[in-house]
Amino acid sequence: MKLYSNPASPFSRKVRIVVRELDLTRLVEEINVNPAASDEVRRINPLGKIPVLVLNDGSTIVDSPVICEYLNELGGGKLFPGMTIWRNASGRWRALTLQALGDGICDAAVARTYEGRRPPELQSEAVIHKHLAVLARSLDVLERARFAEAPTIGEIAVACALGYLDFRLPELSWRDTRPNLRDWYEKFAQYPSMKDTVPANLS
Ligand code: BEZ
Repeated sequence: MKLYSNPASPFSRKVRIVVRELDLTRLVEEINVNPAASDEVRRINPLGKIPVLVLNDGSTIVDSPVICEYLNELGGGKLFPGMTIWRNASGRWRALTLQALGDGICDAAVARTYEGRRPPELQSEAVIHKHLAVLARSLDVLERARFAEAPTIGEIAVACALGYLDFRLPELSWRDTRPNLRDWYEKFAQYPSMKDTVPANLS
């Protein structure tokens, strides 16, 4: 399989961590691309976005939550807790909601980063304020969240979001007012899969 990804992208990082946690590195070839400049990505994925997974039969899987769930099925299923429709607050819905929160933080953080790359006269204070408010509210919710001991897709998504904030928006200093989240992340960042995928600019 081929995984088109970018070392700066937090959504790519989530998939790359899943590959490592499920011991699938021998089956997945990682191909670094700049999605904005890649005709190949646009040909493979009409959305022009990464990550995108191309299977051995040529079919494609997008986007990151779907790729992660596909790899989870392939790799034994430990990262997505099972279906328990009849019980409240099951591990599955907790994990999927944490993933949605982590991905939503990444959406806002990437949008904030891209807004900051526009010429100063085209940047909108209102747009920046909206993204920062999403980040502040979501981080406050995560400060009160319950994280599982054994990582699920939820913990992985949140860790990727926090790693991206450190990478692109360090001035937010999110740790200053969120000690629980800080302590949890400090431990989580020690996983080899996290250390192996620290964000970097595409070289
Ligand atoms: C970034 O450079 O921050 C970035 C690159 C690809 C996807 C998302 C973010």
